[in-house]
Amino acid sequence: MWRQSLSVGVASGAYGVSFGALATASGLSAAQACALSALMFTGGSQFALIGVLGAGGSGLAGAASAVLLGARNGLYAVQVAPLLRVRGLRRVLAAQLTIDESTAVATAQRVPAVGRLGFWAAGVSVFVLWNAATLLGALAGGALGVPGAWGLDAAAGLAALDPAGRALLFGDARTANTFDGTAVSDEQLQGIWELARWAPTAANTQPLRVLYVRTGEGRERLLRHMADGNKVKTGMAPAVAVLARDTRFYDHLPTVMTIRPGMRDQFAGDPQRVDMTGTYNAALQAGYFLFAVRAVGLATGPMGGFDAEGIDREFFPDGRFASTLVVNIGHPGPDAWFPRLPRLAHQDVLSWA
Ligand SMILES: Cc1cc2nc3c(=O)[nH]c(=O)nc-3n(C[C@H](O)[C@H](O)[C@H](O)COP(=O)(O)O)c2cc1C
Repeated sequence: MWRQSLSVGVASGAYGVSFGALATASGLSAAQACALSALMFTGGSQFALIGVLGAGGSGLAGAASAVLLGARNGLYAVQVAPLLRVRGLRRVLAAQLTIDESTAVATAQRVPAVGRLGFWAAGVSVFVLWNAATLLGALAGGALGVPGAWGLDAAAGLAALDPAGRALLFGDARTANTFDGTAVSDEQLQGIWELARWAPTAANTQPLRVLYVRTGEGRERLLRHMADGNKVKTGMAPAVAVLARDTRFYDHLPTVMTIRPGMRDQFAGDPQRVDMTGTYNAALQAGYFLFAVRAVGLATGPMGGFDAEGIDREFFPDGRFASTLVVNIGHPGPDAWFPRLPRLAHQDVLSWA
């Protein structure tokens, strides 16, 4: 718990330097930047405010964005209040320290007393480091001129994903088995690929192809080939992606592997290498795809239970694409989760050399 608290403080510190530098670049004085960090003390809202000011927007518009983003802290308060049970001055202090990080550390502890301590430890650690870093960034930004020239604006991009982001992708994310009626737009589906396409593959081969099944007719054709246990949920999901491997991915190498012009022909003459590289990297990309779906706030239901030859004949009749995974996408419906199954313990997985 102590380590978690300190590490979230240090991670936020990196953002604090950025905030200080960007705040002064968007016209605030160092004192104003520090006052925002001490009083407002919620990173997302502070960045929103200076973003609006920096783009020439009014203080009122900036404050409105900040309030909207800060509203989530009210929800955190509802979550941590029963744990903390504080009154008077301590309640005011607790309110000021109720942020993503303190809530995450508090609620991650099994024992309530440790959770309470975690709340204060993470809150104070972030508060101290965030404010010190803001001062540093404001002074450095002012002294050095344009933050971009020193990479201070990029520091936010390099900092770790905050606990809420990690929970969205990993700890809280579940595999959905039912879906409610909320639609998923084509733009959201394109947005998923816009994220997933940047993830790495061997020699930049990118063998994965995605077929989004959207129409009623497409759905019926797909359902014929799904395993019986997967039919109901696949019929329910607002969008379904069929992930497939392009068996001739190497034909794209001249455009995506420009630094190695001969590579296409090397692959073309080596079917075993094509098979291994394609299968391995399409599987990697399928994993990236699932996490991109989670990153845009949607739930996934990946399924290997289907007749792959049947789907290939149905949707990829020229034989070039080979289906590997079908993924239901949408908003979870009632009783969407099976019981959470245990994961292997660290010691069963990790070794050190
Ligand atoms: C490659 C792959 C294939 C899967 N195939 C099926 C399937 O055919 N049917 C099904 O109901 N669940 C399937 N699942 C779902 C897994 O059982 C589920 O993701 C896993 O148990 C973790 O569940 P959780 O995210 O709720 O903890 C599959 C998952 C993956 C990643």
